[in-house]
Amino acid sequence: MCGIVAYIGEQEAYPIIIEGLKRLEYRGYDSAGITLLNGKLNTYKKKGKVLDLENFVAGKDISGNQAMGHTRWATHGKPNDINAHPQVSNSGRLALVHNGIIENYSTLRSALKKLGYTFHSDTDTEVLVNLIEEIQKSENLQLEEAVRLALQKAVGAYAIVVFDVEDPNKMVGARNSSPLVFGIGDNELFLASDASPIVKYTDKVIYLEDGEIITIGLNGKYEIRRIDNTVSNNPVQQIDLKIEEMEKEGFEHFMLKEIYQQPITIAETMRGRINAEEGWAKLGGMDQYMNRILAADRIILTACGTSWHAALIAEYLFEELARIPTEVEYASEMRYRNPIIKSSDLIIALSQSGETADTLAAIKLAKQKGALIYGIVNGVGSSIARETHSGSYIHAGPEIGVASTKAFTSQLTLLSLMALILGHEKGMIPEGYYRQLLAELESIPGKVARILETDDHIRYIASEIKNASNALYLGRGFNFPVALEGALKLKEISYIHAEGYPAAEMKHGPIALIDMYMPVVVIATNKNSYDKVVSNIEEVKARKGMVIAIVTEGDKRIREIADFVIEIPMTEDPFTPLLSAIPLQLLAYHIALMRGCNVDQPRNLAKSVTVE
Ligand code: G6P
Repeated sequence: MCGIVAYIGEQEAYPIIIEGLKRLEYRGYDSAGITLLNGKLNTYKKKGKVLDLENFVAGKDISGNQAMGHTRWATHGKPNDINAHPQVSNSGRLALVHNGIIENYSTLRSALKKLGYTFHSDTDTEVLVNLIEEIQKSENLQLEEAVRLALQKAVGAYAIVVFDVEDPNKMVGARNSSPLVFGIGDNELFLASDASPIVKYTDKVIYLEDGEIITIGLNGKYEIRRIDNTVSNNPVQQIDLKIEEMEKEGFEHFMLKEIYQQPITIAETMRGRINAEEGWAKLGGMDQYMNRILAADRIILTACGTSWHAALIAEYLFEELARIPTEVEYASEMRYRNPIIKSSDLIIALSQSGETADTLAAIKLAKQKGALIYGIVNGVGSSIARETHSGSYIHAGPEIGVASTKAFTSQLTLLSLMALILGHEKGMIPEGYYRQLLAELESIPGKVARILETDDHIRYIASEIKNASNALYLGRGFNFPVALEGALKLKEISYIHAEGYPAAEMKHGPIALIDMYMPVVVIATNKNSYDKVVSNIEEVKARKGMVIAIVTEGDKRIREIADFVIEIPMTEDPFTPLLSAIPLQLLAYHIALMRGCNVDQPRNLAKSVTVE
C-alpha cells in the first residue's frame, strides 16, 4: 500500500521517479506526488493516477538530481491534492513520503499544535514530518539523528524517505513493518518500496529490516543504524528480475498477460521439483526441516484474499493426500484472537507479495509460540520470506494486475507438490497412485494452455451476463474454494456483487435470490460429487436461474440442462482447481472490460496491503 521511490545521483531525477511510480502504481493509485531537491524543494501533488501528476507538472520546474515520489492508497484523509505525499514541514525545510500508519498521530499532533505547528492535511504523515522538524530544530541535530529520535516516539508501521533542503545530497530512509529496499547503482542510489523501479539501473540491493534507518550520501556512502543507534551490517544482495517481466509485452492489460502466462508460470513453480518418470517430488525448503514437518500434529495455513482461497484448497489437499489435520485462518483474525498454537504445529503462510501486514503479524505471533513457520511466497526477499524459518518461492514472476491470477495457480501447484511429498513420506499414497498424480501434475501446464484456447467462447458468455447485478458461484469439495475465488475475481474488477458458496449450501439461503436475472456459475467437474452437483444445477434451473457450468471435456449431461458450458480437460480431482480457476479468471476479465472498468487497477484496492 502506497509506493515510494527516491533517487540521488548524476542523472535528472524526474523521469526516473515518474517511471518508478508507474511501476509501483499497483500499490495504490488514488493520488501521487513528487518532491525535487535542487537548491530548494519543489513539490507537486495531484489526486488521481501518476499520469494526472505528469500532466499537472508539465511546464513546471522539474530539474534536480535528487527527488522522491509517492503513489498513495489513502489511510488517513481522503484522496485529494493536499493529503497526497510528499508532506512538507511547517518551515518548508523537510519533505517526507510515507507508506504505513502512525497510530499515535493524534497525540503527537496535539502536542505539536501546542508548540505552534499548523496542519494543512488530514494525514498522519504531516505529523511525522513536523515531529522530525521539531526535534531537529530544538536539539540542533543532523537529519538522520532527528529521524531516529522522532521514530522512537512514533507507534505504527512505516517506510519513509526524508529530504532536508539545508542538508542536500543526502536522503534518510527508515522502515518498520512496511518494506523499503536500497538500490546501489554506479554513482546513483535509490530507495523504493520494492525493487521494480530500481532493476533498470542496478541489481544490487539491500533490504532494510524493521527498526532500521539508512542515511545515504551522493558519494555512494551509506550507513544503516537501528533505532537504538547500533550499527547494522545488512548484506548486499543480487536481484534476479528482468525489466520485460514488468511490461505488458503486447497484452492489453497486465491481468490478461498474467492469465495467459499460466502454462509457463505453473511449469516454473514445478521446475526442478518434480520428475514423474523417476517418481519423485521435492522442495528444498522442506528437506532441511523434514523431520519436524513430518512430526507436526497439525498444519495451520494463514493468508489473506486470494492467497486465503489457495490455503482453503490446501486444507482439502493435505487432509486428502497426507491425512494431516489442517486448519485455515484469516491472518487478520489469527493475529488478534489468542489462537492455540503449539510447538508441534506447522504454520504455512501464503502470500503473493510477501508483504501483507496481517500475514506478517500472524506468523510473528506463531513464531513466538514456538511453531515452525513455512512461507509460500512469490516476492523474493520479501518480509514474509525473511521472517519464516523456511519456505518455497512459487517463482511466478512479478504479478502486477491487482487481481491475483497466476500467483494463485502457482500457489496451488506448490501446495499440490507439498501435499504429494507429505503423503508419500507418510506412506498415505500408494506408490502407483503417487506416480499417477506426479504425471498428472506435470501435465497441468499443457491443459491450462488448452483452456486458454477457449477464450473466445468465454468472452461470448461474458457478453451475455455482463449486465447482471449479482452472481452466484457454486462448487463442492476441492472446487468450493474455487467458487469463492471466482466470485472474488468478479466483484473486485467488475464491481458486480458476487458470492461463492458450497453448492449444497445454496438451499440454506442463496436459493432465495435466484431468478432469471441471476447468473449462477457452477463448477461441475468433481468425479466424487458429480450427481449431486447436477441436482444443484436442476434446482437453479427450476427457479429460472441462468447456469454457466464448468464441466469436464465431453460432458453431455450438463450440456443439456445448463445455459452455457465451458469445458476443461479431465484431471485428477485434487488438481481440478488448477484448471477450473482459469475460465473464471477470463470470465471476470472480459465482463470487467465490457463494463468499462479499470481491470488492472480496480477502485479502492491495492495489491500489496502493508497496513492492517
Ligand atoms: C490484496 C490483493 C489480493 C491479494 C491479497 C493478499 O487484497 O489485492 O490480490 O490476494 O491482498 O495478498 P498477498 O500478497 O499476501 O497474497
